[in-house]
Amino acid sequence: MQEQLQKIKQEFLKGLVEIKDTLQLEKLENEFFSRKSGKINDVMQILKDLSVEAKKEFGVLVNEFKKDLEEKLAEKKAELANEKLGNLIETESIDVTQPKLPKVEPGHLHPMTIVHNELEDVFTSMGFMVLDGPELESDYYNFQALNIPVTSPARDTQDTFFIKDHANWVMRTQTSPVQVRAMQKYGAPLRAVVPGRCFRNEATDGSHEHTFYQLEGIVIDKEISIANLIGVMKELLQGVLKREVEVRLRPGHFDFVEPGFELDMKCLICGGSGCGACKHSGWVETLPCGLVHPEVIKAGGLDPKEWTGFAFGLGSMRLCMQKFGIEDIRHLHAGNINFLKQF
Ligand code: DAH
Repeated sequence: MQEQLQKIKQEFLKGLVEIKDTLQLEKLENEFFSRKSGKINDVMQILKDLSVEAKKEFGVLVNEFKKDLEEKLAEKKAELANEKLGNLIETESIDVTQPKLPKVEPGHLHPMTIVHNELEDVFTSMGFMVLDGPELESDYYNFQALNIPVTSPARDTQDTFFIKDHANWVMRTQTSPVQVRAMQKYGAPLRAVVPGRCFRNEATDGSHEHTFYQLEGIVIDKEISIANLIGVMKELLQGVLKREVEVRLRPGHFDFVEPGFELDMKCLICGGSGCGACKHSGWVETLPCGLVHPEVIKAGGLDPKEWTGFAFGLGSMRLCMQKFGIEDIRHLHAGNINFLKQF
């Protein structure tokens, strides 16, 4: 029996030397240690037929033999694992001469998004809906429904981008068309704001852009007065600017309100002494507003004898400039990362 064990051991050790990978090792392990058909198991079968004394003696021997072979197997396993790790380190080594990857900084909101988010917060807290409208708008909604007929001189101040071969469609010059759309869709009473992009054929300068943002507002209810309008306008400015602002109200003409006003705010950039952002007047035209014209209420499908309202069209880019002290409107669309990083 001892001879047999010796033979198996030699066979095993010979096989072990030739092992190159874990697959071969597994095969060898199976060949010798398998419970069903392994060579060690075969030897153990002999034990069955031995006397009790002999069983004891050889049992110890076989166990030691098995332990010895198991240890050798474990050593080989560890050796292979180390080899694998070594290969991995070699193939995945770090190239210290490689240039450093640029640091990816977390993104942040554009100043205009910040301002619109704040405006929406102020208005939703007062029970307003936030609505959207099409940027490519029909001549009807952009002008006619707002009491600006085809012959109106008011159109001259709002020259815009017309769509070739589609004379009745324009890139909207204002967010006001959503006033009528909202009345038609939601009826009265109504409280809604409409932040959105507008377009005009403008020569650009420090305070004018051909593409700009407005926040339209409309309230329709019974017995709405100018006092209601002024109250909401004050809430709006304080909510976003978070400081005291000096305002003045001037009469203003807009075909879709009667009476109409221009609410100006003392320029926060120059403190009123005059700069590029306020066209060197010390005041910034911020909030044109007024009481909704009966013709517009009619276009919205409501009875102007029953319903009244106020509306305003905030130039939200100008408000953004005031809030953050931006002296030129063109910065807001320039996509200059050094500028945008400041917010
Ligand atoms: N839509 C006007 C413009 O872009 C601004 C405006 C004036 C809006 C008075 C209003 C308003 O709602 O009541 O020039």
